[in-house]
Amino acid sequence: MTYTAINPFFARRAATLQAAASRITKPAIFARLPRAPINGSPVPHLTSLYHNSDAGEYGRRSYPGNCGGNLIKDLLLYFKPRLVLDPMTGSGTCQDVCRELRVSCRAGDIHEGFDATSADAMKALAGEGQVDFVWAHPPYWRQKLYAADDRDLSRTGTLEAFLSRYEAFIQAAASVLAPGGRLAILMGDYSDREAGFVPLVYHTKRLAFEAGLRQCCTDIIRFSHGASSGRRVYRSSFIPGLHDVCMIFERERCQ
Ligand SMILES: C[S@@+](CC[C@H](N)C(=O)[O-])C[C@H]1O[C@@H](n2cnc3c(N)ncnc32)[C@H](O)[C@@H]1O
Repeated sequence: MTYTAINPFFARRAATLQAAASRITKPAIFARLPRAPINGSPVPHLTSLYHNSDAGEYGRRSYPGNCGGNLIKDLLLYFKPRLVLDPMTGSGTCQDVCRELRVSCRAGDIHEGFDATSADAMKALAGEGQVDFVWAHPPYWRQKLYAADDRDLSRTGTLEAFLSRYEAFIQAAASVLAPGGRLAILMGDYSDREAGFVPLVYHTKRLAFEAGLRQCCTDIIRFSHGASSGRRVYRSSFIPGLHDVCMIFERERCQ
């Protein structure tokens, strides 16, 4: 991409954008990761730093907010649940992983009229089964808009409204978990011009603790490979966030 400036007042800005544009075509930078201790984990490569750039053949990469399936796969191999709930399934990434691993999975999404913030709807999705794992990848508030439905979490007009409905979701998810069952939430902090920096990871933990859950293992920092923002050029200055966070909570008993 070449920027040319006819107006000399804009020449400097054009040069800055030019430099930024040339940076994004540079090859990837490789970081040296710390050595992980050897332990009895059935998934030794699953650590607090999740840097798998392969999304796997799960779900649909073109779906907005698609998260790739390999982290979900590693979590299921580690926790070995028998029944998984995926109440914000999007393009069905978690369902596809469960199919491959032959784990029962029940899924819904607001696009199909399923509202995960309703405790009754979550109970109906769970059915009679003992849910031992809920995978949730909610909207990062309004970072991306999903369904044209007022119940969609991404359509909440204020942060307070979002947090209130997010709280209802976390409470509903906690209520369907069997004792010792886990709720895994993939969430990213979010920032926009109007609201500023919104620490959604912090709010997720706060709301999960208030719902009576406890965190049962380390945060998993997932490197955001393939995020569309990585290909953009911005005029403003900020520290780019290159990850989101998977938090795993447990009802009562800890591992
Ligand atoms: C980040 S996307 C999930 C993408 C998914 N992980 C994938 O890989 O395709 C969030 C999803 O939450 C759904 N959603 C938003 N509000 C919801 C609600 N109240 N109940 C159920 N689903 C909701 C959206 O429609 C969207 O599909």
